[in-house]
Amino acid sequence: MLVTTTELFKVAYGHFAIGAYNINNMEQALGLFRGGIEAQAPLIIQISRGARKYAGVKMVEAIIRAVEEMYPKVIFAVHLDHGDEATCHDCIDSGFYSSVMIDASHMPFEENVATTRRVVEHAHSKGLSVEAELGMLGGVEEDIQVDEKHAMLTDPDEAAEFVRLTGCDSLAVAIGTSHGAYKFKGQQSLHLDRLGLIQQRLPGFPLVMHGSSSVPREEVERINLAGGGIDPSARGVDVDEFAKAVPLGVTKVNIDTDGRLVWTRVHREHFRDHPEKFDFRKPGRIFVEEYARFIAHKSEKLGCAGRLEEVRAALTQAD
Ligand code: G3H
Ligand code: 13P
Ligand code: ZN
Repeated sequence: MLVTTTELFKVAYGHFAIGAYNINNMEQALGLFRGGIEAQAPLIIQISRGARKYAGVKMVEAIIRAVEEMYPKVIFAVHLDHGDEATCHDCIDSGFYSSVMIDASHMPFEENVATTRRVVEHAHSKGLSVEAELGMLGGVEEDIQVDEKHAMLTDPDEAAEFVRLTGCDSLAVAIGTSHGAYKFKGQQSLHLDRLGLIQQRLPGFPLVMHGSSSVPREEVERINLAGGGIDPSARGVDVDEFAKAVPLGVTKVNIDTDGRLVWTRVHREHFRDHPEKFDFRKPGRIFVEEYARFIAHKSEKLGCAGRLEEVRAALTQAD
C-alpha cells in the first residue's frame, strides 16, 4: 500500500524511525519488500538522481509498481533522494512520488531558503511533502564533494528559522554522519546533544538522519577476503544509537551503503567460490534473501519492526 510520507511520520514521530532505503534494481526491490514483510515494518523507498539515470525513470517506477503488486501488504512511501530543483519539479509533476528531497544545503542560507520554498510551493499544491537539508554532511553526495573539514553541523536556531521560512515538512540535519563507507576515523560520533537542541527549537517536527549506514566490520572483512580492497578502518553509525535518536525527533533514517556492501560481499564470495560459474541468478537469489534479512535487522534497530498493523490501523482511522 503506497501512502504519503507525512502519514508515516505522524504515526512514527517519537516512537520509532522508518528506514529509507535506496533502490536501483529489481533485486533490491524484492529484498526490501520481503524484508518489510519479514519484519512487519513500514518502509520508505528512495530513488536518487543516480538511480533514475542508471535504470531509467520508467524502469524504476515499473519495478516499484511490480513489487507492490507482489507484496500488497507492505506499507511504503516513495521518496526522491537528494533532488536538485529541476528533478524535484519533475518528480512532483510525475504523480508517482509521495515526497521529494530538495538538497540545496551546499548553497548559502538565503539561496537554500528560496530554492526550498519554490519546491515546497509546487509540492504542496500537488499534495506531496518536502524534505530539505540544512548543514553539511561530510562525504560524497552524487556530484557534490563536501570536504570533511568543512562539514558543518546544523545550527539549531538557523534550523528553526529555515523551517519557518520554507514551510518544509521534514529536515535533514547534519549531526556528525556522512555518506559512504568512510564516515569516521576511529571512534564514531553522533552529535546527539546537537540533535536535542534542534528538537527543542522544532518540537514535534520530523528530523532525518542521512549517512546512517553502519558499515559492519565483518562485512568489510568478508569483502576484502573475497578480493575486495575496502579500507579496513571504514566505520559507520552504531545501530544501537538509532534508539537514542528517535526520542530526539529522528523519524527517517537513510541507509544505502550497507545494502551495497551486502551486494558486493554476496557476489564476490559467490564468484570466488565458483570461478567456473557465470549464472548471475544464483548470487542474485542469495542477495535477495540476505537483503531481506538485513532490512529486518535494521527495522528491529529502528524500532519500526512489528508496527505494520499499528500503522495500517492509524492510516485507516485517518481516512
Ligand atoms: O546519498 C546518496 C545515496 O547513497 C544515493 O547514492 O547517488 O550513488 O545513487 P547515488
Ligand atoms: P549511507 O551512505 O550511510 O548509506 O547514507 C545514505 C543516504 O544518506 C542516502 O540519502
Ligand atoms: Zn543522503
